[in-house]
Amino acid sequence: MKDYRATAPGKVILFGEHAVVYHQPAIAVPVTTVQAKVDLQATGENSGLRIIAPDLGRDYRLAEAEADDALALIIRLTLARFQQVESLQATLIVTSTIPLGRGLGSGAAISTAVVRALAQFYGQQITPAAISDLVYEVEKLYHGTPSGIDNTVIAYEQPVYFIRQQPIERLPVGRAFILVVGDTGQVSPTHKAVGHVRRQWQADPQRFESLFAEAGRIAATARTIIEQGGPGATLGALMNDNQAVLAAMGVSSPELDRLIEAARQAGAWGAKLSGAGWGGNMIALVEPETAPAVSDALLKAGATGCIITEVAPS
Ligand code: MEV
Repeated sequence: MKDYRATAPGKVILFGEHAVVYHQPAIAVPVTTVQAKVDLQATGENSGLRIIAPDLGRDYRLAEAEADDALALIIRLTLARFQQVESLQATLIVTSTIPLGRGLGSGAAISTAVVRALAQFYGQQITPAAISDLVYEVEKLYHGTPSGIDNTVIAYEQPVYFIRQQPIERLPVGRAFILVVGDTGQVSPTHKAVGHVRRQWQADPQRFESLFAEAGRIAATARTIIEQGGPGATLGALMNDNQAVLAAMGVSSPELDRLIEAARQAGAWGAKLSGAGWGGNMIALVEPETAPAVSDALLKAGATGCIITEVAPS
């Protein structure tokens, strides 16, 4: 039987998380050193779709899935889009090297890989925009009011300058740069952190709108530097500025602060949390020669994992 295989990358937000929910610009890039992978094998049996997710210790049938099961939802949405009414006789195996729930887009990547595998299976062409729309439906189930940045950067697999509810803008990268991504080992509860920011914004709209606007200005400045391949030190300083804004929003944590400080001490140009915060991952912008020292410093400061990744010119 033929085997259909699809992958999707992780992602990091370089600038503008949280403020992006309030229509400020943000910048995100795919991280291809980690991937979600889906294998889809047709079976001769007449027993429907079996879903196996070894990393999660799960093995079940689509027909038995709970109403809020993310894998079942993306599969059903995709089958509906392809107008497949016949039940699918196959086994779908999901694996991922993207740490779960750490702000690296694991959920959106798994959903994207599922859509791509099903598209191959049915011989359908599907655009990144259509994949992104399908994945957004699942993101809503888990993250409440997501801006849509995660599904967009992962479905397009390109750096994006993203403004909520506006047409996607690809972000050309003038010169390659290196990021070290450090994992606090703690789950980043996106839903809760986004809710916390919302409540604070409601309590003090003036202060929070000025924090959002500041994050937006930083993202807009960073865009120009990235496009022009400008100096790393300037981009790093903008990361530090963005981290100060995120800390003022109350979404950093002692663990994130410790890793960010360790990266700066080890010679990074700049460092900040990436994603919703309160755990998850931080990113540091480094010179190629400094990357190993920064990675070592992060591990010594308690990071449970480190990824060194290059954002290639585009
Ligand atoms: C989560 O990866 C990024 C947030 O800005 C939420 C969102 O954009 O939906 C915190």
